[in-house]
Amino acid sequence: MPKSTKKSSNNSIDRIPSGIPGFDKLIDGGFVKGSINLISGGPGTGKTIFSMQFLYEGITKFKENGLFISFEENLNGLKNDAAVFDWDFPELEKQGKCKFLTFKPLNNPSLTSDLVRIIKKNDIKRVVIDSVSVFSMAFRGDPFKLRKELYSLCDLLEELGCTTLLTGEIAGEAPLDVSTSGGMLSRDGLIEFIADSVITLHNSGIGGEADRAIRVLKMRRTKHEKSPIPMDIHMKGVNILS
Ligand SMILES: Nc1ncnc2c1ncn2[C@@H]1O[C@H](COP(=O)(O)OP(=O)(O)OP(=O)(O)O)[C@@H](O)[C@H]1O
Ligand SMILES: [Mg+2]
Repeated sequence: MPKSTKKSSNNSIDRIPSGIPGFDKLIDGGFVKGSINLISGGPGTGKTIFSMQFLYEGITKFKENGLFISFEENLNGLKNDAAVFDWDFPELEKQGKCKFLTFKPLNNPSLTSDLVRIIKKNDIKRVVIDSVSVFSMAFRGDPFKLRKELYSLCDLLEELGCTTLLTGEIAGEAPLDVSTSGGMLSRDGLIEFIADSVITLHNSGIGGEADRAIRVLKMRRTKHEKSPIPMDIHMKGVNILS
C-alpha cells in the first residue's frame, strides 16, 4: 500500500498524490498537502470526473477520507455517473470513508461551521467543491463579500489540513496556448489568484494523440510541467498521456 504523502524532489514539502494516471509526474509527485487547487474548464471538459477520481483514489489507494460538496440536489445521480467508472461511492460511504453533501449557499450561511464538524468527525483529508462558481454566484454583486467568503473558506480548509480541489466553470474554452495571457479562468475572476494552483482542462486536443488536454497553469511551491498535455477519458476515468 503506497504511503499517503510523499516528499517532493526538494524533499521539504509533503505531497498528496492525486492517483490519476500520468498526472502526478507533471506536478513533482502530487498536490501540496493542505493546498487549494482550482480545476478550471469549459462544459464537459472532465472537471467533475477528475475531482471524483481524486477522491476515489485517495480513499482506495492512500487511505485518505474524502468529502464531495456539490450544489446539485441529486447526489444519487452523481454517484450513478461515478459507477460507470466502477467507483462505488455508496459502499465507501457505508464504510465511513466518504461523505457527499449538497450545499445551498443562500439557505445555509453556516457552511463553515458545518464543514469543521463534518471534516473532524469523518477524518476528512481530501475535499472537492463542485463547483466554486456556484458558490461565487451566491455573492454576485458584492465583490467585497465574495472575496472575504472565498478567503475564509480557503483558509479554513487549509487550517484543517485538507487538500482541496475546487472546480471552476468558464464559458467557452480555457486558453490552451501558453503564451495566451487574456481571459478569466473562473466566473468570478478571483479564485484563480487565491488558489495555490490552477489546472485547466480542454475539450480541444493538441493534435494527434487525444482530443482533450490538461495544463498546469500555476502551482505554488512546485516545479511543474507547463505545456498542455494530451488527456483522455475512458472506462477507468481520466488518463494523462505524456
Ligand atoms: N465512460 C466515458 N468514457 C469516455 N468519456 C466519457 C465517459 N463518461 C463521460 N465522458 C466524457 O466526460 C464528459 C463529462 O465529464 P464531466 O462531467 O467531468 O465534465 P465537467 O467538466 O464536470 O462538465 P460540466 O461543466 O457540465 O459540469 C462527457 O461530456 C464525456 O465527453
Ligand atoms: Mg461538472
